[in-house]
Amino acid sequence: MKIKIDKIKSMKGEEKISMLTAYDFPTANIMDGVVDMILVGDSLGMVVLGYENTLRVTMNDMIRHTEAVGRAVKKSLLVGDLPVGSYDNLEDAVENARKLIEAGADCIKIENQHKIARALVKEGMEVMGHIGLTPQTVTDFKVQGKAEEDAEKIIEESKELEKAGCFAIVLECVPLELAKKITEEISIPTIGIGAGIYCDGQVLVMHDILGLFEKFKPKFVKRYANIAEEMRKAFRQYNKEVKEGKFPTDEFSFH
Ligand code: KIV
Repeated sequence: MKIKIDKIKSMKGEEKISMLTAYDFPTANIMDGVVDMILVGDSLGMVVLGYENTLRVTMNDMIRHTEAVGRAVKKSLLVGDLPVGSYDNLEDAVENARKLIEAGADCIKIENQHKIARALVKEGMEVMGHIGLTPQTVTDFKVQGKAEEDAEKIIEESKELEKAGCFAIVLECVPLELAKKITEEISIPTIGIGAGIYCDGQVLVMHDILGLFEKFKPKFVKRYANIAEEMRKAFRQYNKEVKEGKFPTDEFSFH
């Protein structure tokens, strides 16, 4: 049975919440039911499409990949991610969020923008906020909210998103003390990425934890496997066997 938004909300303070990204059917099939939430994030741009950042990801990209993941996901909550430029005004936000829901998302994640979050909630959609380091708008990719004034702004935005009706908020790249304060001061779950242990839950990019994305590794990423190396090994072995005429043997041939 699919995990419900109310269940995610009720886990705050009771049980840590896990979220990972997925972008395709086979991965989502393996991940479904193992973590609480699956995010089809616009990190797609970097880890799947090979862009430098998330800024070239389009609605069509997000729809296609949300559909692929949606075909697999039966148990985890599927979070759709609105890409940059798709929620610059209320009308676009509602129209594009609906498209992701139609593609299979159970809820919608947006960066900052509590007014847009409120509008989506008013339309009956479940919304996850995202504050701190927000890759669609930030120019300086570093820990956010270190200065008191910046920390205050992030706290304020978390409270605005809570008031807007968001069911959870991603906190990206903020000091763990700030994440702790926000987690204690709002009633909805905080999902951290580079935000430390005190968040109500954690999210990481699947390619990062599997060691599939080798371009760089942020400090907050823990690698749980080295799949790139396994793949390289298999590719090399296949290449060798083809070159040496050892594949296909009789076992892999028809008579
Ligand atoms: O796009 C994404 O994968 C994200 C997570 C890093 C939170 O927004």
